[in-house]
Amino acid sequence: MTIHIGAEPGQIAETVLLPGDPYRARWAAETFLEDVELVNEVRGMLGYTGIWKGHRVTIHGSGMGMPSLSIYVNELIREYGAKTLIRIGSCGGMQESVNVRDVILAMTASSMSTPSRGIFKEFDFAPCADYGLLAAAHAAATAKGTPVHAGGIYSADVFYDERPDLNEQMTRHGILGVEMEAAELYTLAARYGCRALAVLTVSDHLITHEALPADERERSFGDMVEIALEAAFA
Ligand code: HPA
Repeated sequence: MTIHIGAEPGQIAETVLLPGDPYRARWAAETFLEDVELVNEVRGMLGYTGIWKGHRVTIHGSGMGMPSLSIYVNELIREYGAKTLIRIGSCGGMQESVNVRDVILAMTASSMSTPSRGIFKEFDFAPCADYGLLAAAHAAATAKGTPVHAGGIYSADVFYDERPDLNEQMTRHGILGVEMEAAELYTLAARYGCRALAVLTVSDHLITHEALPADERERSFGDMVEIALEAAFA
């Protein structure tokens, strides 16, 4: 047990999928895994471990934003030995070429700051995905016929953004989408020698203002779970 995770040692798999929403963790575990066991419910942050095609997998909520994700990922890696961590979440589209429902694989995650900022001080560390996971996820998405983009994203600290000028610069510099967790996930994975990837569905669009209807969110979330699982065990 750690401060925020009630699992016993050995109850967390080496491969962990990380949706932001704990109820999504429950839905994904019940939908895609066999022999599912609830391994955490501290503070309502649900985590489940089960079997996918013979492989042990944990699906654990990360919460919203980098400070929350950082707590869970630190404990999953340092206390439970997680080795492959894949965020599955949503993002806001930032390019005309990216459509709502498309999947973005985050090669890099730019940010204003992360909880790791204090280590780097004036230095700009470049958080990046594990290339093997990224290539396998790209192949899995392509095989499913899911429109997929690989490129840079932006991990923001605020959802209710007051810096339209910054979004303009992100778009100008080719950033595909904005979310709130990947930069810290990639930084922690780099620090502890783990593999990490963020697989993101475009749920809303900052330029076209289109948004994914609620009834389509579950289906697109299911596609991401399958892409993440196939990438993890490719
Ligand atoms: N901003 C930040 N995070 C998000 C967004 C957004 O527009 N859409 C989905 N996650």
